[in-house]
Amino acid sequence: MPHPPFITLDEKSDAPLYRQIYETIRRSILSGGLPSGRQLPASRLLAKQLGVSRMTVVNAYEQLLAEGYLEGRAGAGTFVAAHLPEEFLQASGFERLELQEKPLTRKVILSEYGSKLAQNSKIILRHHGATALVPFQHGVAAIDEFPFGVWAKIAQKWHKRPPTSVLNYGDAVGFQPLRDAIAVHLAAARGVRCTPEQIIITNGTQQALDLIGRIFLSESEDVCLEDPGYIGARDIFTATGARIVPVPIDDEGFDVQNARKRSLKTRLIYVTPSHQFPLGVTMSLARRLSLLEWARERDAFVIEDDYNSEYRYSGRPLASLQGLDGDGRVIYVGTFSKTIFPALRLGYLVVPADLMEVFAAARALTDLHSPVIEQAVLAEFISERHFARHIRRMRAMYEERQQTLVEEARKNLGSMLDVTAAKAGMHLIGWLPDGISDREVSRRAAEAGLNLAPISAYCINQKLRDGLLLGYTAYDEKHIRQGMKKLARVLTEIAQH
Ligand SMILES: Cc1ncc(COP(=O)(O)O)c(C=O)c1O
Repeated sequence: MPHPPFITLDEKSDAPLYRQIYETIRRSILSGGLPSGRQLPASRLLAKQLGVSRMTVVNAYEQLLAEGYLEGRAGAGTFVAAHLPEEFLQASGFERLELQEKPLTRKVILSEYGSKLAQNSKIILRHHGATALVPFQHGVAAIDEFPFGVWAKIAQKWHKRPPTSVLNYGDAVGFQPLRDAIAVHLAAARGVRCTPEQIIITNGTQQALDLIGRIFLSESEDVCLEDPGYIGARDIFTATGARIVPVPIDDEGFDVQNARKRSLKTRLIYVTPSHQFPLGVTMSLARRLSLLEWARERDAFVIEDDYNSEYRYSGRPLASLQGLDGDGRVIYVGTFSKTIFPALRLGYLVVPADLMEVFAAARALTDLHSPVIEQAVLAEFISERHFARHIRRMRAMYEERQQTLVEEARKNLGSMLDVTAAKAGMHLIGWLPDGISDREVSRRAAEAGLNLAPISAYCINQKLRDGLLLGYTAYDEKHIRQGMKKLARVLTEIAQH
């Protein structure tokens, strides 16, 4: 019979006994102490060894089975899952390394940048690790609705007879037909004023922001960020050593007056004007103009992150901030993560013409360029109008999914979660009743197999009512309904405590 995992129960702890057993086994799996395929003792035996009722052990095992850490094999017993969900392993990989490596005696002297990363690496990796797609993870497209047949046909053509132009080293700024296709799309859909020569293809928004941060920011200079705001941007700009200036959001978006008072020497301002992340406010025209005016006065640059402007369900979208800028102060950032799928890692920058050279040089030094065949396939997907067709289809579907989410939230959660429909975006915010912590709900919901980001995680100084991000775009009616039922159970349990 295999050894039971090392479990010490604390009778005085607030955590129920089944929870302590669950946690110890889960931790042992994550740290590699209990490897995949290892058999666990029968519940009756473990209960006896620990001096608890068999039900206590059964409850812990059932929770671990439901979350995918364990698997039952008929007649043989309970085992650590052969294929642990990727996200679990991601979280534990470095911990396992730490456990197994002999401590080294050498001294590690890192650069200032390296030291900043080392101080925050656990948090950064938690923010940017792989995730399993479960309701209500936000910001993920309906991946299973993507026209893979069309994509595969185009890809097959490029892979079967690739010209040398897509196999040799490519251009740092990107594959020319893709830059052409994006310029046409942006002029028509977003009122962006640019030539294809101002476009740089990047590996998503993340790389675009990293290039901007390194080109514009020096240690201790000011960068203004939306508060609450996008963690991807906050992590990058923090790593540059710049001073983060959090600026509150009101019902017109980024509060320029407030920013003026807080930062006298701002270099860079990061905004999401078409759909503020995460609150969903659209920045008013008056605010846009006053933001550009302020940037002019300070000789600062504005980053416009237009990450999901394609998803507007009613009302006319405001054209891009970049289109209003006559002074070359706006750097526009776009991504295909929300329209195609995030693993593609393709996005782009629209850069004022006089800054193209320095951006191209930074891109070349970073990683030369994005993979060229993927760029070629995407260019054809756009120019043959499949992209526009796909977005149109998804827009209609997401609007329906949003309605389903609102209805199911009202039906299952009533006053436990305040959810209102929105005209745009890929998630809604569910506001919690006073006294219920969004972080606790998020933690408990994760144990029930849900992914609900707490709004407080996006706040820097801002104190908002507690709330949860409810992504709806990636889930059909059945999954939304099941997810809401699970969330109702979690919230009822918390409210009763
Ligand atoms: C505000 C914002 N910008 C950009 C992105 C996309 O980032 P990337 O293009 O690196 O996948 C996201 C994704 O969640 C986002 O929320």
